Amino acid sequence: MSKFIAKPATTLSGELKIPGDKSISHRSIILGSLSEGVTKVSGFLEGDDALSTLKAFQAMGVKIEREDDNVTIHGVGIHGLKKPEKPLDLGNSGTSIRLMSGILAAQAFDSELVGDESLSKRPMGRVISPLKDMGAVIHSNDDRPPLKITGGQSLKGIHYDLPVASAQVKSCVLLAGLYADGDTCVTEPAPTRDHTERMLKGLGYDVRVNDNQMCLTGGGKLSATTIQVPSDISSAAFFMVAACIAPKSDITLMGVNINPTRTGVIDILKLMGANLMLSNEREIGGELLADIRIKSSELKGIQIPKALVPLAIDEFPAVFIAASCAQGETILTGAKELRVKESDRIQVMADGLDILGVKNKVLDDGIKIQGSEFKEPTSIIESHHDHRISMSFAVASLRCAYPIEINGVDNVMTSFPNFVDLANSAGMDITEV
Ligand code: S3P
Repeated sequence: MSKFIAKPATTLSGELKIPGDKSISHRSIILGSLSEGVTKVSGFLEGDDALSTLKAFQAMGVKIEREDDNVTIHGVGIHGLKKPEKPLDLGNSGTSIRLMSGILAAQAFDSELVGDESLSKRPMGRVISPLKDMGAVIHSNDDRPPLKITGGQSLKGIHYDLPVASAQVKSCVLLAGLYADGDTCVTEPAPTRDHTERMLKGLGYDVRVNDNQMCLTGGGKLSATTIQVPSDISSAAFFMVAACIAPKSDITLMGVNINPTRTGVIDILKLMGANLMLSNEREIGGELLADIRIKSSELKGIQIPKALVPLAIDEFPAVFIAASCAQGETILTGAKELRVKESDRIQVMADGLDILGVKNKVLDDGIKIQGSEFKEPTSIIESHHDHRISMSFAVASLRCAYPIEINGVDNVMTSFPNFVDLANSAGMDITEV
């Protein structure tokens, strides 16, 4: 098990290129595989999660070639997948297992989806339930992985009201809907990331979006295209917070995805007083991009608007570090979903903040954080093998007078393989041992 030793550093500077978006990378493999023709992907995230999806589709007979972040997918069409010889191991990746269960529920063959210790604890009832309504047959370990999916079922379209704002569940149901008889519609309680809908449209599939409802009709086909994956705003968030809290900093993050269903972190940091500017906004392949310049900022505590919660769901560990460095109190509510991510991100962040002497109060669905100076850490911080917890506390070192040690950082590889190199090139001082 490796750990980070993050030493206090002063100023951050430079133009940084953050790796490709994880959500879009997953979808490029899934939908490219189901397309007719050859899909070329550039900017693919070479992290373990997206690679788990890639390997799973290779195991189902799809020829996929990769040279660094360029991927060529020889699509097999919607009905061209083959039975994998072994259970598909999706590692740490919730997106892989939830999106793929929608597709596998509709195949002629049986399949089994497994994952690591963390994934094996995560709730799958949220996808099993709508898939069963569509006619799928799935056995699980009390709604947790492994998922054993019985093939040969004919699915029927459903109208599904999402009980939680989850893009993974929405995507799972829509992907199953590609195979279902008739219309499949999903209604979401709040906007969630819409990369599946955008990419389906980009591959020529008719997806009808009306306010908070998305519908498609089964039985169509997908046509291969080229996909350019923009930089991941969830990874960029660590550097946004880092530049805000480090003195005399000025960094620019190039070509970051600013899809409006993902920009909650920008809105939250701006409400906190961040010195953050977008420029060079452009559209590439149906996704919006911008360069984001961030300078050192005097942050203030805020009540985080509930409407921004699903739009920043993966960025809260980093936002909690910003809140710890802000003047006054920051209050987050309506974020119970954080408890079922790669770790219980409310409790695990609170435990780490306690070690740094930051006063906080854990709520059932959020947290209150009182900004303060960081104290000498009383012990090593445990990330619980959660990539975003590891990187958030590495960023916290910028405001600490003493080195911070963070345990269990291996999973940073799932989403941001070059995090340490990029952070150090900008002026941070992180060693992995
Ligand atoms: C994702 C959706 C979100 C997010 C996850 C990626 C996706 O999960 O937290 O990292 O790519 O669809 P939920 O659907 O559980 O909110």
